[in-house]
Amino acid sequence: MSGADLGRPAGGQPRPGVEADKAARGDRCPVGPDDAAVYVHFPYCARKCPYCDFNAHAISHDDRVYADAIIAELDARGPQLHAPAGLRSVFFGGGTPSRWDPVEVRRVIEAIRAAFGLRDGAEVTLEANPGTIAEDRFERFVEAGINRFSIGVQSLNDRELRTLGRIHDAAVAVRAVTAARATGARVSLDLMYGFPNQTWPEVLNTLERAIALGTSHVSAYALTVEPATVLGRQAAAGRFVPMPDDDQATLMERVHDWLQSAGLHRYEVSNYARPGAESRHNCLYWVGGAYLGLGAGAHSYLPAADLRAAVRRENRRAPEAYLRSAADRTFTPSFEEQLDPPAILADRLLTALRVRWGFDVGELDASFGGGGDIARMLNPALRELVAEGLLTRDGDRYRPTDRGFMLNDTLARRLRGRLDSAANPQQLQGVG
Ligand SMILES: C[S@@+](CC[C@H](N)C(=O)[O-])C[C@H]1O[C@@H](n2cnc3c(N)ncnc32)[C@H](O)[C@@H]1O
Ligand code: SF4
Repeated sequence: MSGADLGRPAGGQPRPGVEADKAARGDRCPVGPDDAAVYVHFPYCARKCPYCDFNAHAISHDDRVYADAIIAELDARGPQLHAPAGLRSVFFGGGTPSRWDPVEVRRVIEAIRAAFGLRDGAEVTLEANPGTIAEDRFERFVEAGINRFSIGVQSLNDRELRTLGRIHDAAVAVRAVTAARATGARVSLDLMYGFPNQTWPEVLNTLERAIALGTSHVSAYALTVEPATVLGRQAAAGRFVPMPDDDQATLMERVHDWLQSAGLHRYEVSNYARPGAESRHNCLYWVGGAYLGLGAGAHSYLPAADLRAAVRRENRRAPEAYLRSAADRTFTPSFEEQLDPPAILADRLLTALRVRWGFDVGELDASFGGGGDIARMLNPALRELVAEGLLTRDGDRYRPTDRGFMLNDTLARRLRGRLDSAANPQQLQGVG
C-alpha cells in the first residue's frame, strides 16, 4: 500500500476537510455504546466471486435447517447479550441472505423479537445480491420484518461486472434497486472501484447512475486483492495485474469528493449517507455497542454492563461444522477471548476513530472510571495527532480529519502504541 489505508469492507468489517469537520460539529452518532444488536450470518452464495474472502460458500443447503440452527443458537446464547431496552438493529449478512426463504427469515426475526424486543424504529437490514432476488421477493422480505436492504450492485458497467465474476449485469442491478425502493424500505448500495485500468469517467458513470436511483446510503470499497481468493492466486501468478495503489488512492479521493458533493457524507471509512440515513448497525460496531453474532463464522462482542469484562468470539466458519455444533448444542466457537478493561478501552478508542463522530476523551474516561487518568495519558498523543492534521479537536471530542480517514490504520497504530507504552502501565491496569 502507498501509505493510504484503502477502504474495504470491515466485517460485519476509507477530503474537503474543513467543511466536513464543520458539518460534523454538534452532530452525534445515532447509536451509543449502551445499544445492542444482533448479527445473523447466512454463508451460502449462488457462486463464489473470485475476489471475495468472506465466509461465503457456493454449496447446497437447506433453508429450514439453517434457520433452526440459528434459532437454537439464539436460545442458547441470547442471555449473554445485555439488551434490557431491546435491540437497535438486526443485520442479515453473508454470503447471500437474499437467497434465504423469506418465510425462514421471518421465523428468525420473530425469534429475535421474542428474545430481546425491537426498539421503536429498530433497523432490520438484509444484504441482497441482485442476481438472486426476483423483484417480488423484496416485498416478501419487508412483510417478514426487513426495513432496509443493502444491495451488492458493485458497478453499473457490464464489462466491469464480468471482470468481477458477478452473476448479474447492470440492468438486473438497476431493476433490483428499483424494486427494493418501491417497497418503501431504506436502500443502500455496495459499490466497488479500482479495477485494473479503470478510468475516473467509468467510476463516475456508475456513481451518477447509482445516485440517480435515489439511494441515500452508499458503501464504496476499493477492490482489495486477497491472497486466499481466485483473484489473489491469479495475481500471484501474474495473470491479474491490480491497479497500482497510488492510482487507487487517487480514485478513492475522487469518489469521496464526488459523493460528498452529491450530499452523501462520509460517516465511516467507506460508508456515505445523507444526513439521518447512516446505518445504525454499522455505527453500533464502531462505537463499541454489544452484538450477538449468530450463524457460521459470526462474530460476537459482549461487554458486561459495567465494562469490567467482555467476550469476543467467532463461531465455526465452515457451514457444516457450524451446523454440527448446532445439532449437538455445543456451538463450539473457533475462537473466543475474554477482554479485560484495558483491552476494552483500547478497542473502544480505536474503533471510534473510524467514524466521523470520533470520541470524547472525557466521556471515555468517565465510562471506564479513569478519574482523569485516561485523559491525561492520551492527551499528549492526541495533541500530536491534531498538530499533524489527522484529528480535529472540539472541546474533549476528537474526530478524524479527511487525512485521518485516509490514514486510519496509521492513526490507530499510533494511539495503540501510546496505550501499549503508557508511562505507568498501572494507569491502564487500574481502568475499570
Ligand atoms: C458480503 S458482501 C454483500 C452482499 C452480497 N454477498 C453481494 O455480494 O452482493 C459485502 C460487500 O463487500 C464488498 N467486497 C467483497 N469483497 C471485496 C474485496 N475483495 N474488495 C473490496 N470490496 C469487497 C462488496 O461490495 C460486497 O457487496
Ligand atoms: S455474492 Fe457476495 S458474499 Fe457471495 S461470494 Fe460474491 S461477494 Fe462474496
